[in-house]
Amino acid sequence: MSSFSGDGATAAGSDALGSKEPGHPLRLAFLASLACFALAALTGSLLRYGLLHGFPWELQYLNVRHAHTHLMYFGWVTPALFALIGVAVARRLGRPLPLAFHAAVAAALVGGLLAYPPFLMSGYQLTAVGDTRLPLSMMAAGLVVVCWYAWSALYLLVSWRLPRDLAVLALDAAVLTLLVSSSGAWGLAALAFAPFAPPATMDALVRFYLDVFSQGWFVLALLGVLFAALPPFSRSRFDLPALAALFAGLLGAAFAELLAWPHAVAQVSSLVAAGGLLLLAARAAHGAWRAGRAQAMLVSSLLVLKALLDVALLSPAIAAWSERMVLQVFLLHAFLLGVVTLGVMSLALREWLPRSRRLFWWLALAVAALLMSQLPLSGLWPANLRGPWALAVAFWATLPVTAVMLVAALRLIRGALLPVRPTRP
Ligand code: HEM
Repeated sequence: MSSFSGDGATAAGSDALGSKEPGHPLRLAFLASLACFALAALTGSLLRYGLLHGFPWELQYLNVRHAHTHLMYFGWVTPALFALIGVAVARRLGRPLPLAFHAAVAAALVGGLLAYPPFLMSGYQLTAVGDTRLPLSMMAAGLVVVCWYAWSALYLLVSWRLPRDLAVLALDAAVLTLLVSSSGAWGLAALAFAPFAPPATMDALVRFYLDVFSQGWFVLALLGVLFAALPPFSRSRFDLPALAALFAGLLGAAFAELLAWPHAVAQVSSLVAAGGLLLLAARAAHGAWRAGRAQAMLVSSLLVLKALLDVALLSPAIAAWSERMVLQVFLLHAFLLGVVTLGVMSLALREWLPRSRRLFWWLALAVAALLMSQLPLSGLWPANLRGPWALAVAFWATLPVTAVMLVAALRLIRGALLPVRPTRP
């Protein structure tokens, strides 16, 4: 087994890409997305604070939650993945990407930030602007989606001639799910202008959009950048069927829910998707183990765990038990924070802060503490040990994650300002 510092990216590749340059645009984009994470996470802390002491400025719980969710999706995970995918593609091409690619990442970030205030003030409702009321949050979300289209077109253009290995195929599938999920966003925007929008239709569209986005785009893109960052391994005959199963299964489940097809269709599709994810995550874990990459091994093992949990939750008895125990928000954050955010950070720290990779383990610890702090709010906690202290603990436990992410941001800024010191022999 090679040492834990073994790397799939060659030094020559890095030079061609120029990604170790302090001012590299993708590194700046990642820095901006870290700032969005901090704002979105503090908004999550405000949600906990609001339950304890009430909300300032007459903010409403649901709108604050929309602001938190959308900034995490639009400002944090998506631009960070755009930047990591850019690095993977540029490294394979052996040359920097066109300016338009960087401009599309920057525009997506600006759009995500623009959407934050209207979501915070009025959620999906109209926002008062002087004497009139406008669907500002939808308009900003529409702008973000247009930026995603521009980025996707540029991705296809620059990656067109690359050999379609497992990493690039996973990225292709990820981009397709990003495009499909956006149809839900357009449906929501259309309903905003309709005289009457049935709440059930709105809910179904929000669920479709967010599910395809998080279970499809996040998972496939994370797998793609993970495979791209690992040393290449020989193709197995299960790779393509596993990828096809994950892609088709998750879209089948999402459309079955949206169009109210028989429940069995959604169940079988979800099972197929989980099987595909299990195989691909196991491949990544095996590759990470062979390369001696502890962080990649942790992230891919967590993806394996997610696939097993997805299968378990298909059992009506387990799903009903998890609902009774009020575990939805815990499970959601175990995935979005514990798998997706940790996965993105493991690759980004390796790429842009190679001397601060220990920060990853601090982040993992802070994320574990945040997740544990949600348990006293769930049905798993003995009723006689509950109390108002649980909400206070849940609030304070949100802060260390933001602190670690801010330290990463400060180190990136310091790296951009200071000249690069030569490494000691
Ligand atoms: C420090 C980090 C985070 C904190 C403090 C935090 C906090 C919260 C809180 C308090 C809620 C409301 C839960 C409820 O209504 O019961 C929430 C909901 C949510 N969060 Fe986070 N969160 C964090 C990270 C993330 C990340 C990284 C993502 C996505 C990438 C995310 C996505 C969501 C979503 C989608 C919901 C809505 C859940 C629903 O509607 O049921 N959160 N978060």
